[in-house]
Amino acid sequence: MPLHSTQSFAEFTEDDLFSQLDQETLPRHVAMIMDGNGRWASQRGLPRIAGHREGLIAVREVLNTYYLLGIPIVTVYAFSQENWKRPQAEIALLMTLLQEFLLQERQTFHERKTRFFPIGLLHELPASTQDLVHAVAQETAHFTERTVMIALSYGGRSEIVDATNRLIDDIQGGRASKRVDEVQFEQYLSTAGLPDPDLLIRTSGEARISNFLLWQIAYTELYFTNTLWPDFRRRDVLLALLDYQKRDRRFGRLPHGVSPQNRL
Ligand code: FPP
Repeated sequence: MPLHSTQSFAEFTEDDLFSQLDQETLPRHVAMIMDGNGRWASQRGLPRIAGHREGLIAVREVLNTYYLLGIPIVTVYAFSQENWKRPQAEIALLMTLLQEFLLQERQTFHERKTRFFPIGLLHELPASTQDLVHAVAQETAHFTERTVMIALSYGGRSEIVDATNRLIDDIQGGRASKRVDEVQFEQYLSTAGLPDPDLLIRTSGEARISNFLLWQIAYTELYFTNTLWPDFRRRDVLLALLDYQKRDRRFGRLPHGVSPQNRL
């Protein structure tokens, strides 16, 4: 079914939405703030934990969709530094879910030649979680085609401060010059060498960045949806990508087709 700009997407099937996508301009890197698990559960009279469990099902479906679309880098904000303030039982369940996720996906990472790439203060995770996170990261480190980056005990400000401290150490040790540019600074971030996200999705109606990838999202397109994370599935991914493809990414330049003279 052809799509006209005035129509809503509501009546379109997933196949229709898929056929509207321009394969040439898909994002290379999509990042996601997965919010709304607790509200999803409380709307159903369930414990928050049930929302996180359903959220994990959504993670797997969404990652599968990006794989099928050929989007090579996906980043998920699974646990922030601020999340340590949650009740101990909820933290423990999130760690258990992370381990379940890794045990479920381990084989798939190998089959799909996907690097599992954790970022954040990993030493703050419980020892058994750390061991599994490091093991899966190590055994998939040689894959270059696809990356699933997962932010754990992550905070964007502390990442920048940590990078700065390591840079200072290198300057004092004579391993770095006393003046650095953005390209050199980027090498000290946990995402060194990876392209910045083209698209950042946040679910659940909140329009905040919440200390996520602060340096890396300087020119990222932001997409906020009211859908709660456990309900965010294949169709929602397609809608986000179609919205992204309507954007004119200018990176500070003039719009396409407008000459500087016309703008003055
Ligand atoms: C925010 O929802 C979500 C989290 C803090 C955790 C995200 C975890 C998952 C999606 C499941 C596990 C995923 C992996 C990859 C292991 P919230 O609890 O803040 O929701 P609320 O704002 O409605 O309370």
